[in-house]
Amino acid sequence: MSLPFPDNPYLKGYYRPFGAEMDAPDLVIEGKIPEGLEGTFYRNGPDPAHPPHPDDRYHVFDGDGMIYAIKLAGGRASMKNRYVRTRKYELERAAGRRLFGVFGNPRFNDPSVSPMEYNTANTHIWPHAGQLLALMEGCPPTALDPDTLETVGYETFENTVTGPFTAHPKTDPADGAMHAFGYSAKGPGSTAIRYNIVDAQGRPRHTAWVDQPYASMMHDFALTQRHIVFPCLPVVISMERAMQGKPMAAWETDRPSVFGVMAKGSDGADIRWVETDPTFMFHIANSFDDGDDIVIDVAGSKRAPLMPAADGSLPDPQQTRFTLKRWRIGHNGTFREEQIDDLDLQFPRIDDRVQGSRYARAFVNGTARPTAGRLDGFDSIAAIHLESGNRDEFSFGDGAYCGEPVFVPAGTSEGEGWLLNLVWDSHANESILAITDARNVSAGPVARIRMPARVPGGFHCHWRSAA
Ligand SMILES: [Fe+2]
Repeated sequence: MSLPFPDNPYLKGYYRPFGAEMDAPDLVIEGKIPEGLEGTFYRNGPDPAHPPHPDDRYHVFDGDGMIYAIKLAGGRASMKNRYVRTRKYELERAAGRRLFGVFGNPRFNDPSVSPMEYNTANTHIWPHAGQLLALMEGCPPTALDPDTLETVGYETFENTVTGPFTAHPKTDPADGAMHAFGYSAKGPGSTAIRYNIVDAQGRPRHTAWVDQPYASMMHDFALTQRHIVFPCLPVVISMERAMQGKPMAAWETDRPSVFGVMAKGSDGADIRWVETDPTFMFHIANSFDDGDDIVIDVAGSKRAPLMPAADGSLPDPQQTRFTLKRWRIGHNGTFREEQIDDLDLQFPRIDDRVQGSRYARAFVNGTARPTAGRLDGFDSIAAIHLESGNRDEFSFGDGAYCGEPVFVPAGTSEGEGWLLNLVWDSHANESILAITDARNVSAGPVARIRMPARVPGGFHCHWRSAA
């Protein structure tokens, strides 16, 4: 018997746990799925199966990974959703209760699972070399069958991924290789970063190790045509602090932001660190080489939302507002930040064919209303033109909650294609998958595919073409 969930903003409304697995063979479609748009839209996100220990506090990054797969074929749409069968999920399902502390905090682990690794597999879903990888930055990828969503198990790429693996790998358009890293790679709170390259066929090509200046919680990294950049930003992991009953990951105000720059494919010997004032981002839109400078476009803020200070206090919401910013790391060790657009936004995506290159458009979720958690409450999607500064935007209206927009190419030029994103209408308690022309966002969706039930708030999405 599972117990009731506690009162928590990430366990109600948009985030109320759903807890069911469904198969819907033929969904209702308003409008028409564009000709040639054939493949599967995947979404990962937290759907906690059990409430945490009564003295522990739930966090939105902590729920069990639930994968939604919405398949488009022959003008029709079907969907299925499945939990990722991590060892954590299976053990807790068998026990009928939560066994792990939030974030695997050992203070609240049941003795039967300590010190077993904590894996929720809840953050991103990434197709590579015929596999579908459920990603969570504390563990190796969990491989799933791309059609049935059945869990296959850990994918360690011939034991080269020996621990944490980012939820934000990058596929290099030059050769289809996947570049990735893991932080806290020699144990929680360690400064070790492991850098992996896996080729387009899924074979390990390269592994290197570097150390960051302090044990930052490094959510994303940059890959340009020539460089890798590791952003060490002031959210710091401390197991010592966690064992004192304080936050394991906390914003440390006296830390600088430091960027580790090295050559793509490097063994780490050439890494140089560029230091600047504290700044923050969860997500990079794109990055590219500009002469000898490196440009990184981010959903940036002054400090991290959802992460307390070391004393447990939460940040001023004005400081955690994300806007599209351009960070420039000069070849001479300088750092400059400028604002591209003032929309309150999150989850920037691009046409992945221009990953690592100079590009024209970023696709984002945005809103004109205050977003409490900075991950939700977005009522619009937008294409931001980086040169002109123009914003092509569509609002799904009062009460709408938009998920990350994924770009699917439909032609040969950058930005020619479709944006796919989930939307929950909180007034009607209905969810749809919206399909919008990426070159004419303000016209609104050309198709709205109705989900059979509410899809709770989640994180990242990806598209896998049928071809
Ligand atoms: Fe993310």
